[in-house]
Amino acid sequence: MCGIVGGIAERNISGVLLEGLKRLEYRGYDSAGLALIASGQLSREREVGKVANLVHAAEQSGIHGNVGIAHTRWATHGKPSQHNAHPHTSHNIAVVHNGIIENYQELKTELQALGYQFTSETDTEVVAHLVHHALKNQADLLLAVQSIIPKLKGAYALGIIDANQPDELIAVREGSPLVIGVGIGEYFISSDQLALLPVTNRFIYLEEGDTVRLKRDSVEIFAHGQAIERPVTELDATVMSSSKGEYRHFMLKEIFEQPNAVQQTIAQALDGNALKENFLEHANPALTQVQHVQIIACGTSYHAGLVAKYWFEQIIGLPCQIEIASEFRYRHPVIIANTLYLCISQSGETADTLAALRDIQKRAKASNTPIYTMAICNVSTSSMIRETNFHLLTLAGPEIGVASTKAFTTQLAALMLLILKIGEVKQSITTELKLELIQALWHCPKVLNETLKHDAKILSLSELFVEKAHCLFLGRGTHYPIALEGALKLKEISYIHAEGYAAGELKHGPLALVDNDMPVVILAPQDDMLDKLKSNMEEVQARGGELFVFADEHSGIHKKDRQHVVHIPQISQWLAPIIYSVPVQLLSYHVAVLRGTDVDQPRNLAKSVTVE
Ligand code: F6R
Repeated sequence: MCGIVGGIAERNISGVLLEGLKRLEYRGYDSAGLALIASGQLSREREVGKVANLVHAAEQSGIHGNVGIAHTRWATHGKPSQHNAHPHTSHNIAVVHNGIIENYQELKTELQALGYQFTSETDTEVVAHLVHHALKNQADLLLAVQSIIPKLKGAYALGIIDANQPDELIAVREGSPLVIGVGIGEYFISSDQLALLPVTNRFIYLEEGDTVRLKRDSVEIFAHGQAIERPVTELDATVMSSSKGEYRHFMLKEIFEQPNAVQQTIAQALDGNALKENFLEHANPALTQVQHVQIIACGTSYHAGLVAKYWFEQIIGLPCQIEIASEFRYRHPVIIANTLYLCISQSGETADTLAALRDIQKRAKASNTPIYTMAICNVSTSSMIRETNFHLLTLAGPEIGVASTKAFTTQLAALMLLILKIGEVKQSITTELKLELIQALWHCPKVLNETLKHDAKILSLSELFVEKAHCLFLGRGTHYPIALEGALKLKEISYIHAEGYAAGELKHGPLALVDNDMPVVILAPQDDMLDKLKSNMEEVQARGGELFVFADEHSGIHKKDRQHVVHIPQISQWLAPIIYSVPVQLLSYHVAVLRGTDVDQPRNLAKSVTVE
């Protein structure tokens, strides 16, 4: 999604802005631009494609200034092109925008009637003209911006500068993330603090509805027009490290970080063979009351929730529903008292999940229904963490690759910890099962490491996928969601069409797709469904399908004609989904590299989906 960087300083900040944009590349974008004010003059550069193109253009033109805004654009209104790239201007005003102005067409018509000429197809350009128009009646830039906010419908974050008022930068947060970086005698804004780490580790997290005036030596924040103080948070910069190290891609690095990420995530909650007393202690009274769980999430995080649905019901007998956030938010589902609404999200900023959470909170309040909200999330400073009653962090560290890997496996680990916790407070889990699960959790990092040793074998299998146009992933029980996740990984980074199915559904349609040219990936852990899965494998082979099986080492499944097998080390069947995620991630990664795609920033996708 679009990314914003901006700043005001005594020095020339063009380098800071360009470095910030590079750090936002992971979010996905198709063009980039910046505008700077120097000696009261506004200059702008915009380029289609990578930030490197913009860096080159900026070097050529020598653009500089001590106040400026910059942007990576992920096209929503109007195709990727130089004239649609941000910043958009109106006379001396320049604007960058993340989000969508839903009523831009109506505003555009009004502005055209006033004589404004549009040079782009974007929704953003209306904001620049509206600010310019408002300044005719109100000379103060902040007041002018505040006066147009009631006209804007949608979710957005804005950065605005005016060459006639070169000593300030105005920012607005209304539904899209925006953070202030506090430097020494300088201030910055960005959609993601990662962009600002070269200049500061001190941040102010804005709330929805905040407008901000930044000067070189001061910050003023207004919540719905009223001046307000927001705390400055200091981050440990080592935690925020975002280099690829020895790895060719962030995705590969993040796949290999999983043993450590899972270890960190479980270590926050476990002490030997028990849950730590202080783990989610403040949630004890609420969790005792919980009668149902409703999971809300998108994409890969949704797949983690699908696994947890099996676990909640089978391990602690707690009814659990799960729904994709983009459906849930518009379905206005009945609110059930004593439900735990559990949002799962890597970023904690996903627009649909946040909107679903806010809708449920609003309606529960209006109907006086007691509910609890919780986030399982990887970003401790995110909106989702701030807006839920309770949270459980996945300690995966920053995930930069657009395709989620370590966030997924740590979400699974965190979900298991939550289930143990609820089982304990509600006394709905036996001591034996609790001990088995805790020991299996501790064992996970070691088994993940052993599984990663199959990388070379999986690389050689991936060569057989390169020319394929389609692929099926099959699993049963908790490995049905892993089949869905495998298919999502393969399609998003290799662009091969892939579908995940519950293997039992094969005969109900997808078997018709199977022929000599159809690779079928099978997830075959040692569990109660193994014999049934073996029958499904026979069905595929009988129709000429080529099988690629990730099977438990004791499953009795071996290599044969048109059946490739990678043996996965044994683990408790409950935690096998964490382990079986690894081979499908590695397979997708290697296929994508061989096909020459942009693995870390696949086409058309964004890391943090902050618009719907
Ligand atoms: C796929 C992927 C996406 C995200 C989805 C939700 O690899 O990363 O499907 O899982 O956009 O994002 P979060 O977890 O940040 O809410």
